[in-house]
Amino acid sequence: MARLVVSGGVPLCGVLEAQGAKNSVLPIMAAALLADDDCVIEHCPDISDTDCAVEILSELGAFVSQKREADGSRTVYINASNALGFEIPDSMMRKMRSSVIFLGAILSRRGRALISFPGGCELGPRPIDIHISSLKKMGVRINEIHGFLDCECDKLCGTDIDLTFPSVGATENIMLASVLCDGETVINNAAKEPEIEDLQNFLNKMGASITGAGTGCIKIKGVSHLNGVRHRVIPDRIAVGTYLCAVAATRGNALIKNTEPGHMSSTLSFLTDCGCNIEVVDKDISISCDELHSVKHIRTMPYPGFPTDMQAVFMSLMTKAKGNSVFVETIFENRFKHVGELHRMGAKITTDGRVAVVEGVKKLYGARVESTDLRGGASLVIAALTAEGTSIIDNVYHIDRGYDHIEKSLTALGAKIIREQ
Ligand code: EPZ
Repeated sequence: MARLVVSGGVPLCGVLEAQGAKNSVLPIMAAALLADDDCVIEHCPDISDTDCAVEILSELGAFVSQKREADGSRTVYINASNALGFEIPDSMMRKMRSSVIFLGAILSRRGRALISFPGGCELGPRPIDIHISSLKKMGVRINEIHGFLDCECDKLCGTDIDLTFPSVGATENIMLASVLCDGETVINNAAKEPEIEDLQNFLNKMGASITGAGTGCIKIKGVSHLNGVRHRVIPDRIAVGTYLCAVAATRGNALIKNTEPGHMSSTLSFLTDCGCNIEVVDKDISISCDELHSVKHIRTMPYPGFPTDMQAVFMSLMTKAKGNSVFVETIFENRFKHVGELHRMGAKITTDGRVAVVEGVKKLYGARVESTDLRGGASLVIAALTAEGTSIIDNVYHIDRGYDHIEKSLTALGAKIIREQ
């Protein structure tokens, strides 16, 4: 199993390009199933979740090829004309639970879908009740048997759907299920994440008629046909936020290019609040930090609030800030698994349910730690970069799910970090 070896104490300085958004690529690759000619998706991050999505498309019968670009990103070519499959094997669902995002597209294309329950993950049970109730309202018959969802529909019908929670995945599944069906679908209390807007832009380029992404109300007028298109996915706001925190934690000075600062308002304001100097010029963000003080209260919220995906990463930054911080994780049930590993490095954090209190310390110390999940793993890398001494971070596969060669990006900023197989 690969691991990262990090020698801490080096201020990160230099220039980095933003990677493509993991949470855009997945629904957009699912959307490519809805055309019978070529889709070309540019700026895909070179991460294992992209591999999983390619595997699923191939399993369904689509022709998929990829090209590694000079900037390290991938261009993915998809032709779904032969995608007659409707089943995602259990092994693939278990490898990437967000594969459930393919459900709406498969139903839209085949009127049938057989997937295993995505099941829980490190963050908690991860139910899909909102997905299921919404698809049933559109006319899908869903049998939940022996851990499988056997879905069938004669015809998907547009309808009004009120989400009980602005679920990102459920919003995307409804958009993908309704884009080719009769009538209009209105999603109320829809998720507002930028990745939803990216999906709307991709689908509308294909010939769809969708409005409202980014607001709480999305309207999808069904159309009869979609064409293959070329699309460049948006920058990954969480990966950019992660590297900004790494630079701040090491008291460095860096520039991250080709970002979407408008997607990161809450993250940038928290970084400013804790003492970072942030400058935004067009798509580029520069950051430097001399002294870090704590942000007293951090509450994760649906977009445009502070992202749950930034919680672990920002907590790592707060472990060495002057003063205390209180984190409230309102989105996932169990998203403090990184705390135990940060303790091993000398962090002072107490948790009680969804609340974590961080008491800033002067020093962290290198230790052997284990990544517990994608963003928790990234938080350990940040802690290791600022710790005294050397750290070893195991289970790097979690980190590789969402960060494009994290050690290369950090080395480009001067970090002493190597990957050992
Ligand atoms: C997406 O997950 C992202 N993943 C997550 O990023 C992100 O943390 C999350 O949205 C919230 O922003 C992708 O886009 C691939 P949700 P998703 O449906 O769609 C509950 C990362 O690190 N819920 O908005 O699964 C659920 O349990 C990942 O990049 C139900 O109760 O998130 C959770 O508590 C992690 N029933 C909350 O809603 C449902 O049917 C948010 O879930 C669906 C969700």
